[in-house]
Amino acid sequence: MFYKFYQQHVFPHLLNQVMQTPSLMDLRRELLLGVSGDVLEIGFGSGLNLAFYQQVEQLYALEPNPAIFQLAQDRIQHVPFPVEHIQASAEALPFATHGLNNIVSTWTLCSVPDLAQSLREIYRVLKPGGRLHLVEHVLNREHLNIQRLQHLLTPLQKKVADGCHLNRDIELALLETGFELDEIQYREAAGIPKIGQRMLLARVHKPF
Ligand SMILES: C[S@@+](CC[C@H](N)C(=O)[O-])C[C@H]1O[C@@H](n2cnc3c(N)ncnc32)[C@H](O)[C@@H]1O
Repeated sequence: MFYKFYQQHVFPHLLNQVMQTPSLMDLRRELLLGVSGDVLEIGFGSGLNLAFYQQVEQLYALEPNPAIFQLAQDRIQHVPFPVEHIQASAEALPFATHGLNNIVSTWTLCSVPDLAQSLREIYRVLKPGGRLHLVEHVLNREHLNIQRLQHLLTPLQKKVADGCHLNRDIELALLETGFELDEIQYREAAGIPKIGQRMLLARVHKPF
C-alpha cells in the first residue's frame, strides 16, 4: 500500500524535479531545437521537452502513467501547437506502420519494461528514412567498476524509479533493431551520480 502511494503521489513529483537538472535541460535543448513537423514523443512524462520544440506542428504525447501526465498540464497550455495525449505503451504503439517522420525519446528507453519490443515498434511506425532522436542514460562501457555498480544497483533502481534500468546498452539495442546511426555522442552529465551520468545523445533512422 505504501509502495502504491509512493508510485502515484510521490514519484511523479520527484521525477519532475530531477529531470529538470540543468545539464539534462541542456541536452534536451541540443536534441530538440531542430526537430520539426509531426512528432511522437514516447514517455512524455511531465512535458519538460515542450519548451524546446521550435518547429513542431503536432505532438503525440505518449505517456502510460496519468499521474505523471497530469503534471504536464500547465506546460501544454503554453505551447503554440496541439498536444494529443496517447495513453499507451511503447511496446504496442497505436500508430500505422510506416506512418511517422520523427519520434523522440528522452530518458524513456531506460524505463520501458521490454526494450527490444519497444524499439521494434518504433522502427515499425517510422517511415523509411524517418528518425528517432534520443537522449538516454546508458551502461558505462569504459569504466568496469561503474558498470559493475550499474548491474548491482539496477534491481533497486527499478523499485525506487518506476522501472528504470541503469545498465542498458542503448546503442547496441538500436543496431540490433536495424537502425542506421546518423549521430552518436556520449557525454557525462554534470550533477548526476556516476551510475547514471553517462548519456547517449543520438539520431538514428530506419533504412529506405
Ligand atoms: C525517466 S521518465 C522520463 C520522462 C520524460 N521523457 C522526460 O524526459 O522528462 C520515464 C518515462 O517513461 C514512461 N514509461 C514507462 N514505461 C513506459 C512504456 N512502457 N512506454 C512508454 N513510456 C513509458 C514513464 O511513465 C515516464 O514518464
